[in-house]
Amino acid sequence: MSDLAILGGAPERTRPFSPWPQYTADDAARLQSVLESRNWGGYPFPNQLAGEFAQEFANYHGAKYGCCVANGTIALVIALQAAGIKFGDEVIVPAYTWDGTAAAVLFAGGVPVFADVDPDTYCLDVECARRAITPRTRAMIPVHLAMRFADMDALMKLAEEHKLAVIEDCAHVHGGEYKHRGAGSIGDLGCFSFQSSKIMTAGEGGMVITSRLDCFELVQSIVNCGRASVTDQFKKRVVGSNYRITEFQAVILQGQLEQLPALAARRVRNAALLSRRLAQIEGISPLPAQPALTREAIYNYVFRYRRPEVSRDLFVAALDREGIPCDGRFYEPVYRSDLFHVHPDDFPQLKLGRAEPVLYDGVHCPVSERAAYEESVWLPQFLLLGEEEDVEDIARAVAKVVKNLKALAGAGPELAGVKSLSRAERPRIEKARNY
Ligand SMILES: Cc1ncc(COP(=O)(O)O)c(C=O)c1O
Repeated sequence: MSDLAILGGAPERTRPFSPWPQYTADDAARLQSVLESRNWGGYPFPNQLAGEFAQEFANYHGAKYGCCVANGTIALVIALQAAGIKFGDEVIVPAYTWDGTAAAVLFAGGVPVFADVDPDTYCLDVECARRAITPRTRAMIPVHLAMRFADMDALMKLAEEHKLAVIEDCAHVHGGEYKHRGAGSIGDLGCFSFQSSKIMTAGEGGMVITSRLDCFELVQSIVNCGRASVTDQFKKRVVGSNYRITEFQAVILQGQLEQLPALAARRVRNAALLSRRLAQIEGISPLPAQPALTREAIYNYVFRYRRPEVSRDLFVAALDREGIPCDGRFYEPVYRSDLFHVHPDDFPQLKLGRAEPVLYDGVHCPVSERAAYEESVWLPQFLLLGEEEDVEDIARAVAKVVKNLKALAGAGPELAGVKSLSRAERPRIEKARNY
């Protein structure tokens, strides 16, 4: 009999971690005041609170303009349209990301082209991106993943050489800075998500920031049913839709931005302690430090599991049962994901001007596949919102599972349960989680 909770022992931790999302009494009062104002919607556009928040958020990230939108996926679609992506244009995306990054390219009429990620950051690899460029390539979407940034200096240089638009997917890095430049302010446009699990949330919501007035005007028109932007200097007209947010979301997001610096500092402090502790455990390695990060943002704390005895999925299942919420298959390489059902008959841009349609069956990105299926362990950010004691519990639980790997190895791979299922399959089984 082993000590491991998954094998019948007592879990290392039974107390829950910090709740998420976090809110204050001010949030409740502000929601009440929006309620009483009877001014709830996104129209007239931009409505007062959404407009104020978007400007504040853009300023905080060092961009000139910001526009609130319905969610992070549509933020990417709008940014691609505003950057001029047309039907059949190729857009390079990292293989290791949420499916929405690539789906947005399809929704905008583009063709996603997958490139592998860097093994130390799990973000778009510059040389893989370079190799993916063809005469049809018009844009790249680097994703700043989990707790790291893509190598933006090198990617911007590559984009300049090939005249590509750069849209930063910043769904994970609100408030993060790369060499003192805010997330989303380095490329042409930056896109954020405020979905429930994100480090700023209004339940749902999104944001596009940019310092290019031509793009900002287009973004506003697309979000507001095609109406002219506030400044309308470029006089571009488009078919738009209603992607506005409500004043309830905007007021919640103002509170979230106020809380962000203190919560981010707590996560960063606890993450540093956790990295020191994990580095002492054999076969466990934190991601290497990234000196370019001048302000860290942590959406998930990610570390690498490299032990031969037991699969990563089973390790994660055992750690979860020790009372440490965690995941391994947080993302799959999108081209292998059950959420990426892409057929050229449904997305005819994959056939446009080609003898053979673009198919994704043959794509192989080894670093993404290793990260997704063998190596990465994802801890949701709210685990880092507490005290040092919480971090010590996490480290102790990891050490305990590692110490008992032999017993775990004898127990059978089926114990991995939901941790060996894709995110597409899990909601049928695992309902309560919001991360
Ligand atoms: C990297 C990434 N891009 C895009 C999105 C899409 O955001 P949303 O869920 O708000 O549409 C998400 C989040 O779900 C994400 O994690």
